[in-house]
Amino acid sequence: MSQSTNITWHDHAVTKKDRREKNKHHSYVLWFTGLSGSGKSTVANAVAKRLFEDQTNSYVLDGDNIRFGINKDLGFSDEDRKENIRRIGEVSKLFVDSGQVVLTAFISPFREDRDRVRALLEENEFVEIYIKCSIEACEARDPKGLYEKARKGVIKDFTGISSPYEEPLQPELIVDTEKHSIEECVEQIVQYLKEKEYYIS
Ligand code: ADX
Repeated sequence: MSQSTNITWHDHAVTKKDRREKNKHHSYVLWFTGLSGSGKSTVANAVAKRLFEDQTNSYVLDGDNIRFGINKDLGFSDEDRKENIRRIGEVSKLFVDSGQVVLTAFISPFREDRDRVRALLEENEFVEIYIKCSIEACEARDPKGLYEKARKGVIKDFTGISSPYEEPLQPELIVDTEKHSIEECVEQIVQYLKEKEYYIS
């Protein structure tokens, strides 16, 4: 619920359409969701590099980094995760309005929260990408040693161990990092963007 009163929406002098035309590409969100260690940030950064090489303006918002700044007041309770995703959704919408591609790498474990972000945007502005990787494989990778701590109970409410992860039911893309290399995952995403005519013309 909004706490602000006496506020007025100002339309921008430069529109989203103007910015897209100048950039020569569509602006949209690539929303990566998946377990910790599934490869969200790795794939998102690899896609961002490819977009950069192909003259597309993009930016990566990443769970760990965002929690050092704008969301440093949030923890990992269900409520805090919900607020984390709500804020990222709003920030993503601003990026889309600014004519850029935004790649978000957050566990975003709850379907309802992801769907709320989808609803904030227009139909062709939200691409949900499920970074699929079994909990066993994520735990074996354990790049930050967090699964080990979660198993020992040192970290509470850890996704996949002591806090739920709700798989997307109808994501635009499922990218399997257990079966495919990073390069193959990037190619799968780029192919999708080309098919949808979101890629640079
Ligand atoms: S989300 O659930 O709110 O979307 P987010 O993507 O921002 O999570 O942050 C997840 C990252 O925080 C993980 O990759 C991991 O490095 C770290 N982390 C620390 N504690 C937890 C926890 N209890 N559950 C999941 N991730 C955690």
